[in-house]
Amino acid sequence: MPAPPSASPSSPSRPSRPSVVAALRAAGCVFAEDEAELILGAARTPAEAAAMVDRRRAGLPLELVLGWAEFKGLRIAVEPGVFVPRRRTEFLVDQAVAQAPDAAVVVDLCCGSGAVGAALAAALGRVELHAADIDPAAVRCARRNIAGHGGRVHEGDLFEALPGELRGRVDILAANVPYVPTAEVGLLPAEARDHEPLVALDGGADGLEVLRRVAAEAGRWLAPGGCLLIETSEHQAPSAVDAFTRAGLTTRLAVSEELYAHVVIGVGALVG
Ligand SMILES: C[S@@+](CC[C@H](N)C(=O)[O-])C[C@H]1O[C@@H](n2cnc3c(N)ncnc32)[C@H](O)[C@@H]1O
Repeated sequence: MPAPPSASPSSPSRPSRPSVVAALRAAGCVFAEDEAELILGAARTPAEAAAMVDRRRAGLPLELVLGWAEFKGLRIAVEPGVFVPRRRTEFLVDQAVAQAPDAAVVVDLCCGSGAVGAALAAALGRVELHAADIDPAAVRCARRNIAGHGGRVHEGDLFEALPGELRGRVDILAANVPYVPTAEVGLLPAEARDHEPLVALDGGADGLEVLRRVAAEAGRWLAPGGCLLIETSEHQAPSAVDAFTRAGLTTRLAVSEELYAHVVIGVGALVG
């Protein structure tokens, strides 16, 4: 087996591609070839390449090693302690754009890195974009990703973070809330369990506590005919649909077999 790359700053040469692939494969990386390509493409010096490989071998998620995640064709900056956007969530963005292609006011609630808001702004063109999160680390990261789209990022608990003047004006309210049941957080892959904050994962006893709070209050913020979209799991979907319906939204479930994604979509009354 090739010797693993070393992080020593005195490394004379760039780690070879085969040695990086072998080191990543030995560490259990399923897509070792692709990851090696990305790491070697991103590293500016041989020492940096070696250090990046070492961090990946120690279990740091690839996106945190690189400092970015790909989402809807965008490079989203990610930082330690911030939820890494998942490809599955691209389906939520697609559903939002299909539901409200002429949206003028967009809110990304529970924004994490701000990937959803950035992707919506990129797809919709000129929109008034707001994002919010309770976690200061997420707020800082989202500002990096959303500033280029003219968006504003607010810090606080759900709707409390938003400027009051948004009440009754939101055309798309996208909220990828935490939805893992508390007892199942410990069963998540180590990359999530060890590197993502609990507040980004834990959705309470049945995983739907934050979703219920968002659904219950969404009607006050949606514009007439505006929509709320929340990702959920296959198992939780019936209860999530029920929470939306109880909140007075006209509700449906959209499913992507390819991404194994489930998105509940609720539309507010047409008369405000
Ligand atoms: C599953 S992550 C999703 C992040 C991002 N929307 C994405 O799709 O990549 C959930 C996010 O919700 C935030 N969050 C959890 N509880 C919150 C609350 N009560 N108010 C605002 N944000 C909250 C977490 O800090 C985390 O960034």
